Amino acid sequence: MLADKDRIFTNVYGFQPWNLPAAQKRGDWDKTKDLMSIGQDAIIDKIKASGLRGRGGAGFPTGMKWSFMPKEPRPDRPNFLVINADESEPGSCKDREIIRHDPHKLIEGALIAGFAMRARAAYIYIRGEYIREAETLFAAVKEAYDAGLLGKNACKSGYDFDVFVHRGAGAYICGEETAMLESLEGKKGQPRLKPPFPAGAGLYGCPTTVNNVESIAVVPTILRRGPEWFSSFGNENNRGTKLFQISGHVEKPCVVEEAMSIPFRELIEKHCGGIRGGWDNLLAVIPGGSSVPLVPAAQIMDCPMDFDGLRALGSGLGTAAIIVMDKSTDVVRAISRLSYFYKHESCGQCTPCREGTGWMWRVMERLRTGDADISEIDTLQQVTKQVEGHTICALGDAAAWPIQGLIRHFRPELERRINERQAGNGMQEAAE
Ligand SMILES: Cc1cc2nc3c(=O)[nH]c(=O)nc-3n(C[C@H](O)[C@H](O)[C@H](O)COP(=O)(O)O)c2cc1C
Ligand code: SF4
Repeated sequence: MLADKDRIFTNVYGFQPWNLPAAQKRGDWDKTKDLMSIGQDAIIDKIKASGLRGRGGAGFPTGMKWSFMPKEPRPDRPNFLVINADESEPGSCKDREIIRHDPHKLIEGALIAGFAMRARAAYIYIRGEYIREAETLFAAVKEAYDAGLLGKNACKSGYDFDVFVHRGAGAYICGEETAMLESLEGKKGQPRLKPPFPAGAGLYGCPTTVNNVESIAVVPTILRRGPEWFSSFGNENNRGTKLFQISGHVEKPCVVEEAMSIPFRELIEKHCGGIRGGWDNLLAVIPGGSSVPLVPAAQIMDCPMDFDGLRALGSGLGTAAIIVMDKSTDVVRAISRLSYFYKHESCGQCTPCREGTGWMWRVMERLRTGDADISEIDTLQQVTKQVEGHTICALGDAAAWPIQGLIRHFRPELERRINERQAGNGMQEAAE
């Protein structure tokens, strides 16, 4: 189990105040100027060496992403950092804990990351539903300005840096990085075609990096304790500590910081009090937030909870939002409900997603009740393949993968429902 001394988020449960004096006691904003004094490229090198991979879902190496930003921004085209606090993926609830209990980690991280990528300012885009969290964030940013930690000559570093908090209006798609940029610009939140990538043309057409809240909030601690410390946790290529969010049928659902690559069983035993009704009662797990395929109980037990471990099982770590389902779960209904979510959140720009998400949901609903033909399972599988990879953004993939996981692992259950329904219909016809 990760030792308390190795935790980055020491106030994730809000036992202490979030405010600046309390944050400073926890070590935030301690000699930030010195951390910056090593220079921009040295900071990027340290983040690369730490092995940090983006915590927003895709796991792209953070230091490498920053290195794509222009080293000499033009005065009329400043660099920008955009921090993704949209957190709308079902099951995900970690960025919220950072923002409401440890916001200064994020704000200090914004300054250091922004400085490293030569950004003029950071925009924190927070989902509309996070009302109290946004209030805390606004207040924490104001504290930082009042203390001279942000703004002109931030932390007396000689660097000018602003942080703006922007509230979204409650759309899942605005978590996709280019939809977020559109929304920040005051337009409808619809993803852009890539290329150009944001590092070339992002916010207001200027070079931009979009990073998740957790990716940015861990940066000051990595620099203070050293990249070797961070990379001492987790398996190769999957380094560091990570906020896991465990919901569903465990005894004690929680958000907990653990070492990457911790085996699933250990994570659940140590922090969640085990599976409701015991381990034999575990049915399946959605390990990375709703958009990754589910994994059946037997396969996930000893799996290292990291990017590579879960990919080897045909799933993914995503945001590390672990949704645990015991045998009381109607797994077809659960996946059908997710299909409805993706249908509802599709922005409608591309035909395979706009039409496909609705079509897949309608078939899923019939599979739930068994009102379908066995051949439709294969048709549904084919349609998921026609959506996956054929859309502007990854929402299409996110809608396809849960269904593919269901068909891969629970086809007998789908067939059972259809057969039972058909047998029931047959008996009714015979009676008539
Ligand atoms: C439909 C959709 C929704 C997304 N929602 C979020 C989100 O709420 N938060 C987030 O950090 N990333 C989200 N992402 C991923 C972002 O596009 C982007 O990859 C991420 O913010 C990059 O940060 P990172 O490199 O620090 O992980 C979403 C992606 C898609 C396709
Ligand atoms: S995949 Fe869906 S959500 Fe993404 S751009 Fe296309 S229609 Fe919009």
